[in-house]
Amino acid sequence: MNTLCYYQNLIKKLTKQQDLTNEEFTALLTCEDRAVTDFLTQRARAVREKHYGKDVYIRGLIEFTNHCRNNCYYCGIRRGNDKAQRYRLTREEILSCCEQGYQLGFRTFVLQGGEDAYFTDKRLSELVFAIKNRFPDCAITLSIGEREKESYEAFFAAGAERFLLRHETADQAHYQSLHPAEMSFDHRMQCLNDLRTIGYQVGCGMMIGSPGQTPEHLLKDLRFLQDFQPEMVGIGPFIPQHDTPLAKYPAGTATLTVRLLAIIRLLLPKVLLPATTALGTIDSLGRQKGLLAGANVLMPNLSPTNVRKKYALYDNKICTGEEAAECIRCLTRQVDSTGYHITINRGDSIVFMERKK
Ligand code: SAM
Ligand code: FES
Repeated sequence: MNTLCYYQNLIKKLTKQQDLTNEEFTALLTCEDRAVTDFLTQRARAVREKHYGKDVYIRGLIEFTNHCRNNCYYCGIRRGNDKAQRYRLTREEILSCCEQGYQLGFRTFVLQGGEDAYFTDKRLSELVFAIKNRFPDCAITLSIGEREKESYEAFFAAGAERFLLRHETADQAHYQSLHPAEMSFDHRMQCLNDLRTIGYQVGCGMMIGSPGQTPEHLLKDLRFLQDFQPEMVGIGPFIPQHDTPLAKYPAGTATLTVRLLAIIRLLLPKVLLPATTALGTIDSLGRQKGLLAGANVLMPNLSPTNVRKKYALYDNKICTGEEAAECIRCLTRQVDSTGYHITINRGDSIVFMERKK
């Protein structure tokens, strides 16, 4: 059997069984052959189209605060970065972002921010309730980091239905190398389990090419995804930010990120899979490549333009200048060029909806 045949058989096996041996996964993760990649992305596209047709779901991202109590070594808004210009949006500003987003066709709002003590459970629950009250046909996703179970319960009761909390890496030692000792891998995992138990649609995910990451770590990530079965997986390349401890490390590559997107589509056929802004930042065609490798979600920015540059998680982040309306026009052109199209609906996880029936 020649090499291409061997890999084609692996990809067919993964498509059929949603599983491979450790050796087979590692072979696929590390294979750089162009013909293999083409076959892999083509298979991922077919699976994505089987479940989601040509639809691309959009989520309006509102980066509502860049204050953070954490000090993740990779992140530009970490507590220790005294160059970061801090801001937090008011309730009125957030509601106005939602209003603008609604007019543009968004039916999901993602509230993302650092772990900001100003947003107590009460304040955040009231905010979620106000958004839900004004836009009852929309879904609210929170991406606000780690809290206790009672807090997550309060937000859920207020109307938040989805939660994104990337696990960052499924290897405990690698996790500790990317975070200060005060942050714990076990607590992150506990949070993901709490969110699932409460009834959220849960998203996890990891950075690709983060400092110290090896194929063994990525294999552990795949095993974790297989075990946890998240409704959404957010992956994007690590990109250094010049005022962080990891400033000197190289960025992850678009090639490896796209390969991971395709593998994850085959591993979790019905998962919601965004082509992230970070992917569009390291490669100007990154988001299109992601969509053509199994991704089916985009998360354009709805934050007011005057704060966009301040939410600088990594260097050279794209889409920090345009108004939301211009962003969506540009994205629509990019999506159209792939043969897919943006749809206006909540874009719930089909696995989740099937489970609920
Ligand atoms: N505080 C929330 C949390 O911890 O989930 C949400 C905000 S946090 C900035 C969102 C995600 O940004 C992180 O989960 C991380 O994967 C990603 N991120 C942070 N710094 C990054 C970097 N330098 N390159 C790529 N992604 C980064
Ligand atoms: Fe808190 Fe990045 S360190 S959002």
